[in-house]
Amino acid sequence: MNDARESLESNPIEILTSPSDECPYKKCDGKGWLWIKDWSRLGKKDELDENGKLLRAEWMEQCKCYEQLIKQREVDKKLDLSGIPSIFKNATVASFEVSKYQLKTNQDIATLARKAAINYVTNYKLMQQSGKGLYLYSKVKGSGKTRLAVSIANALVREYGIDVAFIKSADLISQIKKTFNKKSETTQSEIVDTFRNVELLIVDDLAIKGASTFEEGVMYDIFDFRLEHKKPTIFTSNVTILELEEIYKGGRVNKRINKMSMEINMPEESIRDQEAESENAELEGLLFG
Ligand SMILES: Nc1ncnc2c1ncn2[C@@H]1O[C@H](COP(=O)(O)OP(=O)(O)OP(=O)(O)O)[C@@H](O)[C@H]1O
Ligand SMILES: [Mg+2]
Ligand SMILES: [Zn+2]
Repeated sequence: MNDARESLESNPIEILTSPSDECPYKKCDGKGWLWIKDWSRLGKKDELDENGKLLRAEWMEQCKCYEQLIKQREVDKKLDLSGIPSIFKNATVASFEVSKYQLKTNQDIATLARKAAINYVTNYKLMQQSGKGLYLYSKVKGSGKTRLAVSIANALVREYGIDVAFIKSADLISQIKKTFNKKSETTQSEIVDTFRNVELLIVDDLAIKGASTFEEGVMYDIFDFRLEHKKPTIFTSNVTILELEEIYKGGRVNKRINKMSMEINMPEESIRDQEAESENAELEGLLFG
């Protein structure tokens, strides 16, 4: 008897699925299923053994990675639906670099902000019970507010499987204004309801300029509901919570935000400018080098 035949008889069960690096256990092809063949049953009919177990020549079995894969697919779907900009899809709190900031004082502020972000994720269940969100603030643009807010959301979706919606405050208003068109298929209340009810809402670039009474009313409608129903919201803004008074003159919006979020100061230093400079230097090297 040749060697191949002998090994088949001693171990007639073979996995026909080609293993790939896409499977964390390198067992399946990354799709979560294993195609298994029992060579000893070749040509035999399916039958039950004495324990009632079905004996077959071929079958599909879940790989060890299957559950993780399903979970990952759910996370990806939630993130796809969230409106989080695709450039931030893979942003994590761990890859939020403190050393990117040049000044020591800014590194210290970034360290504290990062620590608060990690603690927020760790203690999310408690934060959720009290409906507490965050308010990421820096006057300087490009300091990493959106980056950190999204990293927190990414972590919360991964760890707790929550639904999240990301919206720039200006886009929220323009989405609602579009519904005033008679041909619009959505209504103002449908949009307001979506942002009232989502488990976690990120409002990016809150209050860039003075808000009209209409805009203030929309914000109030959403935030008051979220406060009442203890649904956390994460804001990013170039003005402090206190300064919101100047933008939402009615005084009700800033009071709600003050109650529903904890302020985190971000460094007053632009990483965006640094990135642009080094990108330009690289490209200029290509052009003139
Ligand atoms: N700590 C950091 N580590 C790595 N990348 C960073 C960090 N902070 C910012 N960045 C990068 O810098 C750029 C600007 O960051 P971001 O958009 O978050 O700034 P921002 O404070 O939200 O700006 P704006 O006030 O204009 O909204 C992004 O490309 C982001 O990925
Ligand atoms: Mg931003
Ligand atoms: Zn697998």
